[in-house]
Amino acid sequence: MLWLYVLAAALSTAWLRRRQKTHRIPAVNGSDGLIASYRTALIFLRNAPDVLEQGYYQFPNGVFRVPTLMRWDYVANGAARISEVAAAPEDLLSFHQGIGDNIESDFTMGEPITRNPYHGHAIRGGLTRNLARCFLEVSDELVCAFDEVLALEDEWKLVPVLPSMMQIVARVSNRLLVGLPLCRDQEYLNFNINYTINIFLRGRLIALLPDVLKPILSPFIAARNTLMNRMLKFVGPMIEERLRNENEFGSEWEDKPVDLLSWLLELAEGPERTPPALALRMLAVNMAALHSTSSALTSALYDLTTYPNHIEPMRAEAKRAVQQEGWTKAAINNMHMIDSFLRESQRLNGSKLIALPRKVVAKEGFTFSDGTNVPYGAILGVSGRVVHYDPANYENAAVFDGFRFSRVREGEGGPARPMVATGVDHLSFGHEPNACPGRFFAAMELKAMLAHILIHYDVRAEQEGVRPRDTMIGLHISPSRKGKIWMRKRI
Ligand code: HEM
Ligand SMILES: *[C@@H]1O[C@H](CO)[C@@H](O)[C@H](O)[C@H]1NC(C)=O
Ligand SMILES: *[C@@H]1O[C@H](CO)[C@@H](O)[C@H](O)[C@H]1NC(C)=O
Repeated sequence: MLWLYVLAAALSTAWLRRRQKTHRIPAVNGSDGLIASYRTALIFLRNAPDVLEQGYYQFPNGVFRVPTLMRWDYVANGAARISEVAAAPEDLLSFHQGIGDNIESDFTMGEPITRNPYHGHAIRGGLTRNLARCFLEVSDELVCAFDEVLALEDEWKLVPVLPSMMQIVARVSNRLLVGLPLCRDQEYLNFNINYTINIFLRGRLIALLPDVLKPILSPFIAARNTLMNRMLKFVGPMIEERLRNENEFGSEWEDKPVDLLSWLLELAEGPERTPPALALRMLAVNMAALHSTSSALTSALYDLTTYPNHIEPMRAEAKRAVQQEGWTKAAINNMHMIDSFLRESQRLNGSKLIALPRKVVAKEGFTFSDGTNVPYGAILGVSGRVVHYDPANYENAAVFDGFRFSRVREGEGGPARPMVATGVDHLSFGHEPNACPGRFFAAMELKAMLAHILIHYDVRAEQEGVRPRDTMIGLHISPSRKGKIWMRKRI
């Protein structure tokens, strides 16, 4: 009964929200009329990349609308507009409400996450500052995790890529975030992996509700207390002990652990200094870190086995770097081909369809410098994937060329474009000033993992020359969940 009601209510508000027209901003594919808009919304659901590509070439340097079943979304094109969206202040275009929109994070996770996103600063500051210092621990975990999760000998075995990399990435990332022994607790890892999926599904259900009903009904859908109690079972004791120590010894004490909790406590104030509030931040960071990184690693392995001519040059580079610097962060920093390969993999398969999602929070709407106005409450983003495939931005744009960025770096001129550099033509990590704060860690971790694979494993495609097809659900692209590759230990 409840669901029927929700559905009816959703349809009627969808109708109202959809009717608000902004005549000055054109709709993609002439989809302004009621029937045309729902037809395009359905096409968009099944084949979003094509619809967005149409909008990209139909309105170069312009802004267009795409109809979804519930509302119109706004997409801006061209370098100048991308820069304007990226640079807009939080009180005009909200970054945090924009990235929280598709999971309805105010209701699923709670308002502090979007209104006081200090955990992002803890990543940008404490975590990033400590990368070199933590490298040994991270790489120790990496070696054990590959050994245990893959359990390979010198015989070829078919490895399901995404599930395996998910487990490895969760473990390695959590060695840095929470340390031993929790980073090896399978239940803790699975809970964090599932949490993202959980929140996403609950968020999609809440999104169907009319705005007035969201605060009333979402508590039943979000199950915040249940989820929080499960997280507290894992991290509650650790947080309580840390808070006791801070109360007793102040913010600096001997043997204070170097981990996420310490970086959070450097910034947490007032009500944020409680076990549930801190546990929620730990969940939020895991949520941002795990799926993104394991998808990137999975894509890179699909690319490595689909385009195997890259294997030997990168293997040689990794061995050389380790010989010169030992297995250290300095060695990782010297792996320019591996860096370029990962960036290229992100370029072709690691960007959102709509990048830089922002919510218009200025009452008078958001006005571009040419006067184009996007209304209050709308979600505005910029073309994502299609920018990476635009021949105006990249030579042979549709072709995977793993060393296109390292060749430039090795002296063919042009600015260095390491993996962590964002740009109006590279939006995988968003764009400054609100680019992903975890990207320095992600890049270090991914490069170390790829180097480890190259040095210690042989890899080949399940079917020569066939890259497992990406899955697409609406606006969400993910590397194939079922794809496999052959792997064996090198001796
Ligand atoms: C290859 C891996 C990764 C990719 C592709 C990625 C991508 C992104 C992107 C595009 C954003 C901007 C928001 C958006 O457009 O959705 C973002 C935000 C964020 N990322 Fe990442 N990310 C990755 C890894 C990580 C890691 C490892 C961490 C943590 C250690 C992390 C922490 C965050 C946080 C906390 C935010 C929100 C920013 C804030 O609240 O200020 N990310 N990420
Ligand atoms: C979490 O994920 C694991 C592994 O994918 C699965 O076995 C388990 O049933 C999931 N648990 C929950 C509560 O969703
Ligand atoms: C992933 O990359 C390959 C090229 O390596 C490309 O053919 C494919 O279309 C990409 N998938 C998506 C969804 O962009």
